[in-house]
Amino acid sequence: MEKLQELIKSADTLKALEEVRIEIFGKKGVLALEFAKMKSVPNEEKKAFAQNLNIQKAKLTDIYETKRLVLESFALRQMMREDGVDVTLFNGINESGALHPVNETMNKIIDYFVSMNFSLEEGSFIEDDFHNFEALNLPKHHPARDMQDTFYLNDDLVLRTHTSPVQIRTMMREDVKPPIRMISPGSVFRRDFDVTHTPMFHQIEGLVVDKAGEISFANLKFILEDFLRYMFGDVKVRFRPSFFPFTEPSAEVDISCVFCDGLGCRICSKTGWLEVLGSGMVDPNVFKAVGEGYEDVSGYAFGLGVERFAMLIHKIPDLRSLFEGDIRLLEQFR
Ligand code: DAH
Repeated sequence: MEKLQELIKSADTLKALEEVRIEIFGKKGVLALEFAKMKSVPNEEKKAFAQNLNIQKAKLTDIYETKRLVLESFALRQMMREDGVDVTLFNGINESGALHPVNETMNKIIDYFVSMNFSLEEGSFIEDDFHNFEALNLPKHHPARDMQDTFYLNDDLVLRTHTSPVQIRTMMREDVKPPIRMISPGSVFRRDFDVTHTPMFHQIEGLVVDKAGEISFANLKFILEDFLRYMFGDVKVRFRPSFFPFTEPSAEVDISCVFCDGLGCRICSKTGWLEVLGSGMVDPNVFKAVGEGYEDVSGYAFGLGVERFAMLIHKIPDLRSLFEGDIRLLEQFR
């Protein structure tokens, strides 16, 4: 019997094991012959004889099954090694991807302000009336609220219409005190849809606050001019008086048209200028709404639309194409 056990253990392929199986367990195998001997065993020994034989058979079966599992898994691994595909192999048609132009533009803008020591702040997409409007000097029923067509969730909650509420959230944080230099990039939402508007787009907000008298319009002008030349190269920059509820004075900032070099074309409506962002000195009412710690400060703020920048940099005619998911648009940015 030991010999039979050795015989099974020594089989080193499934084929060899199958031959051993037939030799031991087959119809004319060793075990069958042993059981056949029962006939010539005296009656009183029959029981012991059969018992012994069954134990031997169970042992052999056990060894056989174990051996079979080992050889099968070995064969499977061998097959996988031979048939397997090397997914790391270069197939010659790999194409590199690229960042979406909105992300790429956003990263470039963030790089500039981070290099100028601005911190990055995050807000949330759902805002309450206080942070999105009230604290920004946009009281209820103020006509300036109509500048932003809002998605209301209920009487108090809105999908934020701009990134400006992050100004308020940052200033009201317990661990934040002036001086503040922050930007806040992110999605904003308005009920708009045409060639230059989508219901979701991205803005970057900027806020600088320090002791009263430390921050002037000259600081604002310097940083925005420097920033716009970093983004658009050698362009002219002009500040145009404007109105925002949260800044006083307010200015809209234009660059000379990148399509016609300021000569006047269809895209700049023959003016030679393109409006690129809003800005101004933080309105005292905003500091009043923020409250404690902001009694004796001054600051400037600005806000810009990332898609607008991406369109001007890449000369994309229809803003909506940025969100259609057409691979042909993205392929141009590889
Ligand atoms: N929140 C304004 C908007 O969505 C943009 C803006 C204008 C932000 C002037 C500012 C600012 O911080 O000073 O249209």
